[in-house]
Amino acid sequence: MIPDQAPKEDVFHCNEDLKKESHIPSFERYKELYINSIENPDEFWGAIAKDFFWKTKHTGRFLDYNFDVTKGEIFIKCMEGATTNICYNLLDRNVHEKKLGDKIAFFWEGNEPGDDLTVTYRELLQKVCQFANVLKSQGVKKGDRVSIYMPMVVELVVAMLACVRIGAVHSIVFAGFSAESLCERIIDSQCSLLITADGFYRGDKLINLKLLADEALQKCRDKGFPVKKSIMLKHLSKEPEGVVGSQSPPAKRVCPDLEVPWNPDVDLCWHSLMKEASDQCEPEWCESEDPLFILYTSGSTGKPKGVLHTVSGYLLYAATTFKLVFDHQNDDVYWCTADIGWITGHSYITYGPLANGATSVLFEGLPTYPDVSRMWEIVDKYRVTKFYTAPTAIRLLMKYGSEPVQKYKRKSLKVLGTVGEPINPEAWQWYYSVVGDGRCPIVDTFWQTETGGHVMTPLPAATPMKPGSATFPFFGVVPAILNESGEELEGPSEGYLVFKQPWPGVMRTVYGNHERFETTYFKKFPGYYVTGDGCRRDKDGYYWITGRIDDMLNVSGHLLSTAEVESALVEHKAVAEAAVVSRPHPVKGESLYCFVTLTDGVAYNQALEAELRKQVREKIGAIATPDYIQNAPGLPKTRSGKIMRRVLRKIACDEKDLGDVSTLADSSVVEELFRNRCRTTA
Ligand code: WTA
Repeated sequence: MIPDQAPKEDVFHCNEDLKKESHIPSFERYKELYINSIENPDEFWGAIAKDFFWKTKHTGRFLDYNFDVTKGEIFIKCMEGATTNICYNLLDRNVHEKKLGDKIAFFWEGNEPGDDLTVTYRELLQKVCQFANVLKSQGVKKGDRVSIYMPMVVELVVAMLACVRIGAVHSIVFAGFSAESLCERIIDSQCSLLITADGFYRGDKLINLKLLADEALQKCRDKGFPVKKSIMLKHLSKEPEGVVGSQSPPAKRVCPDLEVPWNPDVDLCWHSLMKEASDQCEPEWCESEDPLFILYTSGSTGKPKGVLHTVSGYLLYAATTFKLVFDHQNDDVYWCTADIGWITGHSYITYGPLANGATSVLFEGLPTYPDVSRMWEIVDKYRVTKFYTAPTAIRLLMKYGSEPVQKYKRKSLKVLGTVGEPINPEAWQWYYSVVGDGRCPIVDTFWQTETGGHVMTPLPAATPMKPGSATFPFFGVVPAILNESGEELEGPSEGYLVFKQPWPGVMRTVYGNHERFETTYFKKFPGYYVTGDGCRRDKDGYYWITGRIDDMLNVSGHLLSTAEVESALVEHKAVAEAAVVSRPHPVKGESLYCFVTLTDGVAYNQALEAELRKQVREKIGAIATPDYIQNAPGLPKTRSGKIMRRVLRKIACDEKDLGDVSTLADSSVVEELFRNRCRTTA
């Protein structure tokens, strides 16, 4: 399945220096380990597990599972019989066994340049223990669900790990979500307590988080689900006390106008509770398959699904993917720009890096505030070596050209990563040559909230890269490509991406709805986990994620991926971003409706439109010629930056009923697109 030899042509290789220090320095080594991970999972994962602390050892098989709905209930169990505590493994083990107490766990960089602080592993452990005692004092017990709705501050990590320490299950809701979404998630997971903050700035925009949290709690009460307590961190209010780290926040962060309503029956102050709490707290020893956290991800039916991850498998998988995919070394400074409110932040800001004793940057702000050089300024400030971001951020910054990047040296960078959607080759090239100066391999990591960690990805020193390809499976992962009838396709082919067996970090269920778990992921093709993504395998065996299956188009009987067309459009120098959706067509079945955002300063006109059509025709073929092209100064995006293609499809079809758009970052974009929608084809 994986070629014996990596291709020599049309690929990018990593530089020799990186190979010298790498954990996996060659393709041959990757292949050898991969085969072992599939054939002898007990041996492969057993060796990795040795580095972690287990209160009791596992008994029986490393992984036990049923992936076939026709044979009974779907289940995945990893390291049954073992007991451990992840917080202990992330903090106590690093402080006491590895002697990393004084190592910096996080460089916190605030929204405002100059507002920063550091926190060491020892300080983090102390704060987590204190907050764990706070939770206990509020009656939170093992197995209870706790909702966390906070900005990107160190205390968010403290709150999540304090839950882990006492065996409570965190359910983090991204602080960009609405009160309605928070309420829905609190009720679905039956959370007994909420942890939030007064407010925060995103760029120059003030977010009154406490008001939103209160509104959510009111909605919960209205629906007959009163949440007992809400703990609020002062982040912007006057004289914040007890802030983690070595410096107190500068006066310029303090926001006297912030509205902070207070309900003494429910509200508790983070800082007052912390003052009274002891910094000694015995960890709660948990079973391998005890729940660790719930994280909501959108479902095709509109209602979000509470993806449940459990203790031991998730720990091993987050730790191992972090170590090998970013080729973690002890002196690295790693920076993942995601928000902890998404799975990327869970696995690759908190769990993976801390499990490896890494030093990370934790960034509160935006890539464009106060200007579009902010990311590179931060890279130089902390000498970031491994950098992980999303294609949408890359495309956003690309619009401004290379000058804002080249103002900074970026000499420290060694590995660049992307996640979240297929990266179009043009953005890949820009990332590679401008941001990485042609020196740094790019790891295009494909995975999902459900997979817990990377499942298809290059390893920086081992896998020759092809721009836009997530390349090969990670250890323990067995991909296949199926056709519509569920047959496995061999060799170069395109179809549904599925996985044939579990890896330690795969989700265990949809919280409170195991049936939905089975239906969503296992019913379509019995015996396989169905990702919902389309995928192509090329002649060299490389995998190319083509986008969600629901973004697949069938034009005159030809399967096309929207990502392919988008990538062709974006390769035109006038186009900064493109999104393509299907619009029903009486003859061809479906037609291509393309939304394009132009590069700053470029005017939209007929001549350009014709050029774009030609561009796509030339890149893919006449079959992919866009039927409609609409100038889209803005695209509807979720707050995490994902284009909402569902909304675009509605615009393309002139359907005003948009369904649930609570995740939409800016609704005015949609109105504008409706006003200017294309009515006739060219
Ligand atoms: C998409 C984010 C192509 C994919 C970690 C997947 C990607 C969905 C990539 C999961 C990538 C993520 N290449 N597509 N490197 N990474 N995706 O749950 O469609 O927010 O199914 O997890 O993002 O999104 P989620």
